[in-house]
Amino acid sequence: MNAKIISTGSYLPEKILTNSDLEKMVDTNNEWIVQRTGIKVRHIADGESTSDLAYKAALDAINKIHLDPLDIDLIILATVTPDMPLPATALFVQEKLGAKNAFCFDINAACSGFMYSLSIANAYIKSGTVKKALIIGAEELSKITDWTDRSTCVIFGDGAACVVLEATDDENRGILDIRLKSDGAYTNLMRVPAPGSIKQCSEEVIKNREIYIKMLGNETFKMSVRHIASISEESLESVGLNFSDVDCMVCHQANKRIIDAVVRRIKIPAENAVITVDRHGNTAAASIPLALDWANKNGKIKEDDILLLNSFGASLTWAASVIRW
Ligand code: UT7
Repeated sequence: MNAKIISTGSYLPEKILTNSDLEKMVDTNNEWIVQRTGIKVRHIADGESTSDLAYKAALDAINKIHLDPLDIDLIILATVTPDMPLPATALFVQEKLGAKNAFCFDINAACSGFMYSLSIANAYIKSGTVKKALIIGAEELSKITDWTDRSTCVIFGDGAACVVLEATDDENRGILDIRLKSDGAYTNLMRVPAPGSIKQCSEEVIKNREIYIKMLGNETFKMSVRHIASISEESLESVGLNFSDVDCMVCHQANKRIIDAVVRRIKIPAENAVITVDRHGNTAAASIPLALDWANKNGKIKEDDILLLNSFGASLTWAASVIRW
């Protein structure tokens, strides 16, 4: 039994924040942002929760294939910006969709959250426990972004995207391999220090801006390229393929320079790499499914194509998957 993606969907909030808007907020400029990140605009949720974005992305995916929400067995929502600490945001999405027969939970693996969730759903499908699953990446990073910190606030954005995964008897189709890695030695590279069990919410925590993302961007950048390339090679090798077999690479959309560097390192044609970071910034767990949905909607993926999905995130998580579409 294999797991196959049978539909994709996405939702980006209406409000757009441009680089020139950011020029009025912090000491930055359009040229620096475009040159260093490739980002031109990001979307910002205004009055919508993470589960609202996730619900709209899920509707987009299930409506395309006229899927009855009652036929969904599992919903996994990857996010670092849940509606609230408890309960899981996936349950709010379940209720909005009316997916009464699904069991639902959230996954936090930062920018690799979608890949971790895909891997879990893949295992459930392979075991025969689940027939149809929704895998959603949804984020409102604007809520944990320090809008006075130019080194981070220019990068992040809000959005959500979803894939529908279904069991297939065809062993040569769908997810051929998916693998995950983590390294807890680098939890200092990127974190939101509070509120949590170490530091609860207090006036001091808020004053020190510890409720926002702290990131060592440059160090993260350097590690990402190396890790993405090596795990991608392992994943392809495990199914007897190599980089020249890749028709379409959907990399985590953190920074266009990271994707360009990966492309150079693994020597695939630049046009085979999907780039959407210019239009929505780094949306963490939502970024891979957003890029995948864009590629799917815009005819960049054909039946039988070999897709390489790969991610890198805090702190550290990384992952790769080889899919025959
Ligand atoms: O999503 C998964 C995890 N996150 C990532 O993968 C993020 C990976 N990192 C990055 O994308 C990049 O490191 C950044 C975009 C965050 C930063 O780009 P960089 O090329 O690594 O810049 P830098 O931090 O080395 O800073 C270079 C210079 C510094 O000035 P000096 O010291 O050279 O004078 C910064 O102060 O750029 C300055 N700078 C800025 N200037 C204008 C930093 N941010 C800005 C800004 N506008 N927004």
